[in-house]
Amino acid sequence: MTISGDNRLAGRQVVVGVCGGIAAYKVCDLVSRLARAGSKVQVIMTRSATKFVAPLTFQALSNQPVITELFGEIKQECVAHVSVAEAADVFVVAPATANIIGKLRAGIADDFLATTLLATKAPVVLAPAMNVNMFSHPAVRENLTVLRERGVIIIEPETGRLACGTSGKGRLAPVERILAGIQEALALPPLLAGCRVLVTAGGTREAIDPVRYITNRSSGKMGYALAGEAVRFGAAVTLVTTPTGLPVPVGAKVIPVESALEMREVVQGLFDQVDVVIKAAAVADYRPACPAKQKVKKNAGQLTIELVRNPDILAELGQRKRHQVLVGFAAETNDVEKHALEKLHRKNLDLLVANDVTASGAGFGTDTNIVTLYDANGGREALGLLPKTKVACRILERVAAVLPAR
Ligand code: CTP
Repeated sequence: MTISGDNRLAGRQVVVGVCGGIAAYKVCDLVSRLARAGSKVQVIMTRSATKFVAPLTFQALSNQPVITELFGEIKQECVAHVSVAEAADVFVVAPATANIIGKLRAGIADDFLATTLLATKAPVVLAPAMNVNMFSHPAVRENLTVLRERGVIIIEPETGRLACGTSGKGRLAPVERILAGIQEALALPPLLAGCRVLVTAGGTREAIDPVRYITNRSSGKMGYALAGEAVRFGAAVTLVTTPTGLPVPVGAKVIPVESALEMREVVQGLFDQVDVVIKAAAVADYRPACPAKQKVKKNAGQLTIELVRNPDILAELGQRKRHQVLVGFAAETNDVEKHALEKLHRKNLDLLVANDVTASGAGFGTDTNIVTLYDANGGREALGLLPKTKVACRILERVAAVLPAR
């Protein structure tokens, strides 16, 4: 199985819960392969798991601190700003002991792993491993049946020689099968199948001369997350982007641009052929009136650069729109709601994504965002602090809900 560069694993937040069983050592390989495939792996170990493998091993393989305790030892930076449960795209437990299986079925939350498992809304993958008699015990069988009915993906153990000296069903499934279960869990419903989505990203560059330009603090991360998630929802995606240095979302067609005028030309040219336009780009409102043909040399006096207005690309699309769903962004520092509603109506948008860029964890350069969604029917939904990939999913779900009416 080839997993490097796998679009479903790259950039995903995978939480790996490790329980106390001899098979814990095999999970080192799982964590290593996830990390190499580009996943961000957060390992949580139960107290007994740390008797089998040192947390440092998982820390080195995942390149992240390992969470080992519910109280006391958890360092703020390893839990990050976003709670582990909220940030997870998928939650894997391997090896899943009879103990954690029973706790998850019963809703018991007595350590960090069990608590986070209950708190997460991410899909859960359990890879059980235990003694054959434990695995065939009616309590464990029943617990697994109930969990499967609740949507948990169970990776059945293998039959063979067990560490306790006996033989039978209870060996942890091979890493390939666990990875396949994770990929299955990460697949999104094809909400946007057959839909053509145009996303703009990055801050535009407005030339002063051949070597200098005016730009802004936009990193492009929100736009790239939107393009990547739209591909995963089944859309045909075109990403019109300024230079960002970010990895290109696998499956998206990328059209590079620099200035607002270049972006406008490309977007206007594609508008009739798309169903959705999401303008995550930070378009400069002004550009130098007359960019110099040659490098501007310094002299003793002051330098004044005259700026002229750029066209508002999104407002122009709002005038032209027929069947298209239009999504705009508003990066604000004050009176967020007032400015957001004004932009939603003035630009004739279906959805406006507003964020206060001064809030910690929101806005430029971060991997997380705090946004409020305003729709054309007066709907308002405040999303909490979330990774940009999750914000992207929520925006795209809203778009998918509007599309059938078009
Ligand atoms: N936008 C655009 N063309 C511009 C300016 C903005 O298409 N020349 C788009 C952005 O991509 C974003 C939305 O409009 O989706 C809002 O951009 P923003 O700069 O926040 O709003 P403005 O309308 O420019 O208002 P102001 O600068 O006064 O906040």
